[in-house]
Amino acid sequence: MKRVVSGVKPTGDLTLGNYLGAMKRWGEMSADPELECFLFVPNLHALTVRPDPEELRRNSRAAVAWLLAAGADHEHTYLFMQSQVPAHSELTWILNNYATVGELNRMTQFKDKSQKLGAEGQLVGLYDYPVMMAADVLLYDADEVPVGEDQKQHVELTRDIATRFNNVHGETFKIPKPTVQTEGARIMDLQDPTRKMSKSDADLSGCILLEDDEKVIRKKIMRAVTDSGSQVAAAADKPAVTNLLVIMSVLSGKPIDELEQKYAGRGYGDFKEDLAELVVRTLKPLQRTYTQLMKPGNDQIDKALEHGWWRASELANAKLGQVKELLGLM
Ligand code: TYM
Repeated sequence: MKRVVSGVKPTGDLTLGNYLGAMKRWGEMSADPELECFLFVPNLHALTVRPDPEELRRNSRAAVAWLLAAGADHEHTYLFMQSQVPAHSELTWILNNYATVGELNRMTQFKDKSQKLGAEGQLVGLYDYPVMMAADVLLYDADEVPVGEDQKQHVELTRDIATRFNNVHGETFKIPKPTVQTEGARIMDLQDPTRKMSKSDADLSGCILLEDDEKVIRKKIMRAVTDSGSQVAAAADKPAVTNLLVIMSVLSGKPIDELEQKYAGRGYGDFKEDLAELVVRTLKPLQRTYTQLMKPGNDQIDKALEHGWWRASELANAKLGQVKELLGLM
């Protein structure tokens, strides 16, 4: 059985970008009986923004609810909170000795974030973030790490760290493969198609949240910026329309050229209306499940976490024990 590991950070409301770039596929993988899926909520990673504790607790449960709503609810899928399995923290410290400052300096996400935050925001936790990601993945001998484009560099670093460790101590970690889907790997902001659609943006008018209601979704899509001209076509000089076409293509399963033909000569208005309808229709059942799961008294989230925690701890503790033995720590 192949193992899949991935996670979604509980730093705020999840977006259509998270869903299309990662969670939709995780739901599909969860249904595959050939795969064992470890999908976790990296709540320790979330500390880099020093969240309000109550908010972190709520957002972490919400992330589990969205994972379940996206279809990650099969017997051989294990959902858990990163902080429930202390081996993640312990292996991070160990792997810090197998990653270099030079490598971490090259991480584009750190460069982008720390530039925005200034000196005060350049926390060691933010810098070390990719090493913890390596621990997250290597504890489970993952074959595959399905992520959006922005996380690929981190998984490549994971491979380098694992290879370095194996070279020194012998075969210990499986070298995981990052898998980034060909379409939808980078959904862009609807108001600024040069920026990734992101939950950490202050201005959410170009960002569809999974929790947005029908009216808000339609408004955001109808007001999405478009490019010059009136043709619904994907092209390098039409980044806004290309982004909308990608969203429609991933949601409908239809290739972009087929969609271009369908909307030839019809202008942006019709296209946007159909897209809004499709997004609303896709998210509605997910939102319904999410709302059910988050209702006080519903214990499905706790049950899923218990099921996941048990299996995750078993594997993670065994791997950590092996590493500690090798290093003379046990
Ligand atoms: P996070 O929480 O930022 O995002 C979760 C997943 O959603 C993808 N994603 C997108 N895909 C396409 N278009 C977008 N606009 C978009 N925004 C987000 C991300 O690529 C990601 O796959 N560091 C990770 C969480 C993590 C993790 C790990 C992942 C911690 N440890 C170990 C894999 C393995 C993160 O912050 O993802």
